[in-house]
Amino acid sequence: MKKLIIANWKMQRGYRESLSLAKELVKKLPKKTPNGAREIVLCPDYLSLSAVGDILKKTTLKLGAQDSAPADKGAYTGEVSPAELKKLGVKYVILGHSERRRHLREESLLINAKIKAALARKLIPVLCVGENLSQKEGGLAKKFLNEELRQALKGVKIKTAADLVIAYEPLWAIGTGQPIIPLEAEIINRFLTERAAMILSKKVRVLYGGSVDATNAGEFLKQKHVAGLLVGGASLRAAEFSKIN
Ligand code: 13P
Repeated sequence: MKKLIIANWKMQRGYRESLSLAKELVKKLPKKTPNGAREIVLCPDYLSLSAVGDILKKTTLKLGAQDSAPADKGAYTGEVSPAELKKLGVKYVILGHSERRRHLREESLLINAKIKAALARKLIPVLCVGENLSQKEGGLAKKFLNEELRQALKGVKIKTAADLVIAYEPLWAIGTGQPIIPLEAEIINRFLTERAAMILSKKVRVLYGGSVDATNAGEFLKQKHVAGLLVGGASLRAAEFSKIN
C-alpha cells in the first residue's frame, strides 16, 4: 500500500494563508510523486476546508478534516457533520488528537462515537494515540497505548484494512523538535499494528507523528511498520513539506 503523508495544519493558518499554501503545494507536490508512491493529504482548518477542497480538485492531493462530530445531524452547536464532510470530498478525518484530548477534554467515549459516525459515512478515521513523557519514562507506554486503542476502538467494525488509520504521536515529541528514534517508532508501530489487528481483525496502517521534518522523514518511512507520517509544523512550509515524500 502507498505510504500516507498527512499534513495537519492545526489552527496555525488562517483562510487566506491556507489557500495560498494549498496552491503552492499543488504546484510542487504532484510532480514529486510521479508513480503515485505516496498518498498526500492536506487537513486545513474548517473555515478553509471547502475552498482548499476546490483547489485540490483534479490533483493527486486528498482532503482531510481535523475532527468531526459524533453524529450526522442534530442539536450539536459548533460541530461539523461527517455526512457534510463526505459531500465536500473529504477522505480522511483526524480523531482523538492529543491537543483535543488535552485542551478540549475529549475522552475515549466521545472519540469512539466520532470514529463510528465517520465510518458510517465512509470517511477514513485517523485515530491518534500517544503516551506522555512520564508514562514513557515509567515504562508504561505500551500499557497506556493498548488501553487508548481498546477504548477508542470498542465495538468498531471495518470492512477492509484501508478503512481506518492509526497515528502514533508520542505527546513529548509533538512540536518539540525532538522526534522519537525511528527504530523506537518501528517497535511501537509494530505493537500498535498487532494490537489493532487483534481488536479489528484487520491489519490497519499505523503512521508516526511528532517533530517530523524533511531531514528525518526518510528514516521513518524506511521502517516496515511506519505506514506513513502525520506532520504538523513542517507541513506549514511548502518547500519543506514537498520534500517529505
Ligand atoms: P509536529 O509535527 O509539529 O510535531 O506536530 C505533530 C502533530 O501533532 C501532527 O498531528
